[in-house]
Amino acid sequence: MAMTQDELKQQVGQRAVDFIEDGMVVGLGTGSTVKYMVDALGKRVKEEGLNVVGVPTSDRTREQARSLGIPVKGIDDVDHIDLTIDGADEISDDFQGIKGGGAAHLWEKIVATNSTKNMWIVDESKLSHQLGSFPLPLEVIPYGSSQVVKKLAAKGYKPEVRMRDGQHVLTDSKNYVVDLHLGEIDHPHELANELIQMVGVVEQGLFLDTVNTVIVGRPDGPEVLQAR
Ligand code: A5P
Repeated sequence: MAMTQDELKQQVGQRAVDFIEDGMVVGLGTGSTVKYMVDALGKRVKEEGLNVVGVPTSDRTREQARSLGIPVKGIDDVDHIDLTIDGADEISDDFQGIKGGGAAHLWEKIVATNSTKNMWIVDESKLSHQLGSFPLPLEVIPYGSSQVVKKLAAKGYKPEVRMRDGQHVLTDSKNYVVDLHLGEIDHPHELANELIQMVGVVEQGLFLDTVNTVIVGRPDGPEVLQAR
């Protein structure tokens, strides 16, 4: 029987914790795939007495890790992070990524850029030749956000303020999320530079030249790819 997307996520979550070694400081990403990874890490901590410190990228992940007995520290309380394991919303052939579907990309990028190595775990539906099929999330300061949205619209970037039940979706830093419906992104580095220079945009969801290893969930088992 074909594996469900959820089973593929579970498979890569479980495979990823094989890369965690005793004594490591591990960045813990956010999302439904990472949830399986944190479950599997909690199991290793409990059953093997694995000694790790987790640095969570969201309040959700912090609560989950704590509930499983994984010791956690904040980003400002560690002097290094050995390996961060996170999900992704889209990964291109040249291993560039879009993240932020779960509204956590600001904290995720802070943790990622302070990590020696980064690993992404995804089911195979996340792979695409060129970035752009997933809307690009921006984290935007609420104050003046309508002005930012107007500017984005004028550039032709088709911004959509992310709402849920009639309320703004808020990040853990209490900012808004604006999703850009861009279509294929031909020049991601230029776009990233342009967006981050807009006043009021705190972070954008392109994660460029970041990931070292990708684990892809496939029906015949997880595939480990070395990106850089
Ligand atoms: C959170 O904002 C995102 O960057 C997630 O890492 C990404 O959305 C992957 O989530 P799933 O594993 O739930 O697809």
